[in-house]
Amino acid sequence: QVLERRDVQSVAKYINERGARRFIVMTGAGISTSAGIPDFRSPDTGLYANLAHLGLPHPEAMFDINFFRENPQPFYALARELYPGRYRPTIAHCFIKLLYDKGRLLKLFTQNIDCLEREAGLPGEMIIDAHGSFASQHCIDCQSFYPPDLMRKAVEKGDVPHCHMPNCNGIVKPDIVFFGERLPEEFFLNRHLPAAADLCIVMGTSLSVWPFAGLPALCKDGVPRVLINQERVGGLGSRPDDVLLLGGCDAGVRQLAQALGWLEELEALWEQ
Ligand code: OAD
Repeated sequence: QVLERRDVQSVAKYINERGARRFIVMTGAGISTSAGIPDFRSPDTGLYANLAHLGLPHPEAMFDINFFRENPQPFYALARELYPGRYRPTIAHCFIKLLYDKGRLLKLFTQNIDCLEREAGLPGEMIIDAHGSFASQHCIDCQSFYPPDLMRKAVEKGDVPHCHMPNCNGIVKPDIVFFGERLPEEFFLNRHLPAAADLCIVMGTSLSVWPFAGLPALCKDGVPRVLINQERVGGLGSRPDDVLLLGGCDAGVRQLAQALGWLEELEALWEQ
């Protein structure tokens, strides 16, 4: 066992005394709920618990390409909600930026499509958008690229954008990974990084979607894995150097930052 105890103080001691600086952070929708964006699977507040309101036959239809082809409205209702620019990053997003500022971040793997990590100032090259993003979009029929300014206009108006190529008129879809679609190449190109990490932080994800859910297991034994989440997930806690900070992500990052002596800097970053 590398940590003295399985608590936040021991993690801070490990970071400071060993000079750990190859952190891998893995995130999901739970880091954005305090910004006002619902997650997917929380029992009352999650998107999947509010299907009737969204007009979906079953939860995963939201990200099902066949359903989307027939009825893209529910997805575009969500897109309008989530479209970058409407929400402010949480202190949990700022914590990842702080790790980067301190030269400790090896890579962030995120499942989120809200772009709040970028909004918090994290450079694009530090982020693996494992489930894609709203940064680009293509026609689902002819695969043509669709211009971002037209996309923004359509989403803001609540319209479903259609391909502008002659004789096509297919539905345009942001390059977000739907069920059954392959994750972006950058996910696979960077999948070796968890094995090179000296610390792993998993925040705000139920770890229920694969292959993302397999990432924490790629960290080597003896590398502390910290879970900051409302509930225990993905078998974290099963290794001697796993530390569980169960509760809110914002409270968890504040606790960790305080133990590291970084709380004031973190709050300042968040208030900017
Ligand atoms: P989920 O909704 O599955 O899980 C969110 C997790 O965060 C749950 O374990 C919650 O308990 C926890 N949580 C929520 N709010 C929290 C808070 N304020 N503090 C701490 N924990 C909190 O979301 P993801 O794991 O991101 O796929 O879902 C994974 C994928 O499933 C998504 O990327 C999406 C969805 O289908 C696509 O978009 C393709």
